Amino acid sequence: MTTTLIWGINGGIGRALAARLMTEGHSVLGAARDTSRLSDLNGLIPIEADVADPFSVQQAVLTAGQEASEIDLWVYSAGDILSAKIDSMQPEQWSRIINANLTGAYLTTHYSLPLLAPDAHLFYLGAVSERLRLPGLSAYGAAKAGLEAFVEAIGKEERKRKFTVIRPGAVVTPLWDKVPLKLPKDAMSAEKVADKLIEAYQSGHKGQLDLTH
Ligand SMILES: NC(=O)c1ccc[n+]([C@@H]2O[C@H](COP(=O)([O-])OP(=O)(O)OC[C@H]3O[C@@H](n4cnc5c(N)ncnc54)[C@H](OP(=O)(O)O)[C@@H]3O)[C@@H](O)[C@H]2O)c1
Repeated sequence: MTTTLIWGINGGIGRALAARLMTEGHSVLGAARDTSRLSDLNGLIPIEADVADPFSVQQAVLTAGQEASEIDLWVYSAGDILSAKIDSMQPEQWSRIINANLTGAYLTTHYSLPLLAPDAHLFYLGAVSERLRLPGLSAYGAAKAGLEAFVEAIGKEERKRKFTVIRPGAVVTPLWDKVPLKLPKDAMSAEKVADKLIEAYQSGHKGQLDLTH
């Protein structure tokens, strides 16, 4: 049985992944800033965490350590998006997007390292970052490009562990409600992303994994 910790468990991809893993009998701990919305995920061990807040992340990892002796599969699936051109984007909007997509990845990794199995596999939900250099998406695009650099670097620091950045195209989740963009007709389901992530875990994939059909 695999023990998994998912950050951003309330999101479309986080939920789909937790549901798949629990159906297969695995143990799942899920971190969200609002755990009251998780009651439908039967069997999930909920943990409260704001990934942008170092203290909150530290407390969440302590709680996780009371529930599990070590984590085999670790997934960063928190994220946030907005569309705003730089002339109108406010500093707090910029920070919100960088925190959710990049700084949160650092904080959750940093505090989780002592709880990870020696051969743990860490997954980060990125994006096809080179396609995001678009008007209005500067913060999101910069954060996702930064995430790739962050993961490549930590992969060279933590040699015994595996690191994968999943780079999906469009996925049908509530993330799209936050931007004035039309969800492409060929968008992938969150369940398919979850299946691909589990396949990558089982095959020991390392590095970037593009999920663009
Ligand atoms: N959907 C797509 O088309 C797509 C494509 C490529 C990559 N991705 C990436 O995949 C990941 C998962 O996205 P999704 O599609 O599942 O989106 P989603 O449904 O919007 O889920 C994102 C989750 O991140 C959480 N979150 C944001 N800021 C947080 C914070 N400060 N602390 C704790 N949690 C926070 C949100 O929490 P709340 O529920 O509390 O707001 C939400 O549950 C993201 O990194 C996204 O960028 C998505």
